[in-house]
Amino acid sequence: MIDPSTHWHGFTQMAHYNPLVIHRADGCWLTTADGRRVLDGVASLWCNVHGHGRVEINAAIRDQLDRVAHVTTLGMSCDTTEQLAHRLVEVTPGDLSHVFFSSDGSSAVEAAIKMAFQYWQQRPDPKPTKTRYLSLDSAYHGDTTGAVSLGGIKYFHQLFAPILFQPVRGPLPCTYRMPEGVSEASACDHYASEIESLLRIHHHELAAMVMEPLVQGAAGMITHPRGLLRRVRQLCDDYEVFLICDEVATGFGRTGSLFACEQEGVTPDILCLGKGLTGGYLPMAATVARPHVYEAFLGPVSSLRQFFHGHTFAGNPLAAAAALASLELLSRQRVVDSVREKGDYLRTRLQVIADHPHVGSVRGRGMMIGIELVADRATKRGFDSRKLRGRAVCERALAKGVWIRPLGDVVVIMPPLVAERGELDLLAEAVIDSIVEEFRGASPQRGSHHAVAGDAGE
Ligand SMILES: Cc1ncc(COP(=O)(O)O)c(C=O)c1O
Repeated sequence: MIDPSTHWHGFTQMAHYNPLVIHRADGCWLTTADGRRVLDGVASLWCNVHGHGRVEINAAIRDQLDRVAHVTTLGMSCDTTEQLAHRLVEVTPGDLSHVFFSSDGSSAVEAAIKMAFQYWQQRPDPKPTKTRYLSLDSAYHGDTTGAVSLGGIKYFHQLFAPILFQPVRGPLPCTYRMPEGVSEASACDHYASEIESLLRIHHHELAAMVMEPLVQGAAGMITHPRGLLRRVRQLCDDYEVFLICDEVATGFGRTGSLFACEQEGVTPDILCLGKGLTGGYLPMAATVARPHVYEAFLGPVSSLRQFFHGHTFAGNPLAAAAALASLELLSRQRVVDSVREKGDYLRTRLQVIADHPHVGSVRGRGMMIGIELVADRATKRGFDSRKLRGRAVCERALAKGVWIRPLGDVVVIMPPLVAERGELDLLAEAVIDSIVEEFRGASPQRGSHHAVAGDAGE
């Protein structure tokens, strides 16, 4: 037996890690090494789009493997990667036109940070004071140092403060907990005016504002007021600050449109993509820029204006082949159209639990859903985080055959977009029953040594 602690897992307390080792995966189902089947209720950390083992994606990867597995994108390329860049320009909003590849969401954000910085230093009318960023409270943009600097989640980020840069910190545009005197009707105006105040004070030193559009995933599926993104776009234009939208989690259909930005008719200056780009099959991410950004990097070779950034495995052809196959499935099979309907169905099913005394809110957009557990519904007071209520609920769900992973006390429900009615029903039932049992104090079915859920992780 291999020592399971040899593999050190991210966001996981290894001293309490009970191995959960997957041997096969098909559709929305994972089969463990000892033959147990569990529903993948968080789409393998929010990235699986079409289910596991889709023949079209597998075949595209195999076919590519027979031609070329990898070449660099530093000064050369592979035809498959070229095709993908063109396809991404076709499907992304507005005039986003130039695709810079990397391997994971954090790197896509890191590239966006540096791209915005270098742009202001060397554009025809340079603004060298623009060296800072505005990011939102409770933001999560990944785990590399630049992305962590933008981040605002106390448990994940505070520890690293001495090695981070300091962003200008905006509000958390939450529609569940709002400041006193703010209602759902006035929330958009309220948060937009807070952001405007910060832009007014800091615009001369801001290279960009960075945000997740519509839903802040790792913050706990925090839904922004409708219309806020459009207001932010206008404000960024007014104050001459780039808008970087991080669609690593929301992209590729998750919120009910191919990209969340589309729901508010917004084109960011720079768009970050990851997770679902390859359908969740291979690591790949992209930072997509508009022409004015790209053009500031052009000049003679000796001008040293090229983007000083690049990764060994950026634009990997196998991943590019998977991404092209995934995009083809997305366009052919009306997957995105089905997301709103499935999301509404899931939320309707989950309404059964919405009045539970320890459920504060059931929220989300499309198939990006969170249920927040609270100690007191009336005051919205949360539990002491050391009680690990979210984790306990997920542990119970796993005993019922559903794999979900919490964000603190927010139970995340994010199955592959192709999940069918029966699978959505199973998922909803397992979550509802697990919450009811947890607060009724019933002892969980701890028969399985797998019955352990994630820590408060991404
Ligand atoms: C919005 C957002 N940005 C960036 C990332 C980081 O992506 P990765 O884990 O691929 O580095 C995540 C991951 O959850 C995310 O949700």
